[in-house]
Amino acid sequence: MRLLVTGGAGFIGANFVHQTVRERPEVQVTVLDKLTYAGNRASLDPVADKIAFVHGDVADAELVDRLVADSDLVVHFAAESHNDNSLANPAPFVQTNLVGTFTLLEAVRKHDVRYHHISTDEVYGDLDLDDPARFTETTAYNPSSPYSSTKAGSDLLVRAWVRSFGVRATLSNCSNNYGPYQHVEKFIPRQITNVLTGVRPKLYGTGRNVRDWIHVDDHNSAVWTIIDKGELGQTYLIGADGEADNRTVVETVLELCGRNKTEFDFVTDRPGHDLRYAIDATRLRTELGWRPRYSNFREGLAATIDWYRSHEQWWMPHKQATEAAYSRTERVLG
Ligand code: NAD
Ligand code: DAU
Repeated sequence: MRLLVTGGAGFIGANFVHQTVRERPEVQVTVLDKLTYAGNRASLDPVADKIAFVHGDVADAELVDRLVADSDLVVHFAAESHNDNSLANPAPFVQTNLVGTFTLLEAVRKHDVRYHHISTDEVYGDLDLDDPARFTETTAYNPSSPYSSTKAGSDLLVRAWVRSFGVRATLSNCSNNYGPYQHVEKFIPRQITNVLTGVRPKLYGTGRNVRDWIHVDDHNSAVWTIIDKGELGQTYLIGADGEADNRTVVETVLELCGRNKTEFDFVTDRPGHDLRYAIDATRLRTELGWRPRYSNFREGLAATIDWYRSHEQWWMPHKQATEAAYSRTERVLG
């Protein structure tokens, strides 16, 4: 089976490629990645001799047409993925997340290739902190940020290509991932590497915003479950019941690193900051029989801290520039 993975040099895509090479040796993997600031060839070093790598853009129609024609399955991870960046400059989000997805859809339509679309729970907007509800496959779309609105738009393109052209596609919307190879701009790696470099973790606003954490390997095992057993045209929510507020996460990171739980700063809040995400993954569990392997967030976090401790050469080159960018807008609150 010939598999094309877009965005395979990014956080989730690289872990997906590792898992696929490890567990499905019969699959021939080709990665298409533009190697933006978020892409890192080194994330694929452990599998470099087992895959093909193409440096290119998902919005390059000629290149995408050629690669899709040679594939049996496309899994589309490539995206501009960081909310804070989308607030500073939305343009690449529109280009990659919308035009890039459109370009892939046209190619899979032409060559009748099976397609899986990776998306986010952020398309549903946010929930109140005291609302017992969780997102389901029927929750109305209500995205808040330039990032989440372009992801929502890309999902709608996929649904339209399924209905109008019979494209053979499935979609998944997952909650917040954590684990190895995540860029230091994101919340958990940022705080871990802050502590490891003697900097105080930074909490936006009150620190009470809630995210629903899932280990990246669980996200990726769910993606394979959907590809293997999911119904064409359908959407599946992926989550592992990992709700935690940001302050609790920072305190746990500090504690696991042997530091005092109070050694963090509150900083200026993200504009339009979504309050809470929470996934109800009943459909994935009951219809497809998927189960997460990482049920203990604290243990998964401890393993992730160990990974960052032992892979300083992977993240250190990006740390200074990332913090310099944050310091242009971020102010410590009194
Ligand atoms: P990431 O930013 O770590 O990686 C994105 C990858 O896409 C990078 O390797 C980058 O070089 C590549 N890329 C960007 N623009 C490209 C283009 N035009 N052409 C080809 N490659 C391009 O992102 P991530 O966190 O791994 O997220 C992967 C996917 O999963 C995204 O679609 C994201 O919306 C979705 N998602 C992420 C999370 C999360 O918690 N990180 C949760 C749910 C869904
Ligand atoms: O829900 C899935 C989404 O999760 C994905 O679609 C996105 O690609 C991914 O980036 C993530 O979005 P978030 O905005 O939730 O993740 P981020 O890591 O940027 O922030 C997580 C929470 O932590 C959020 O409430 C903002 C807060 N935060 C973030 C940073 C970087 C802080 O308090 N301090 C920080 O320094």
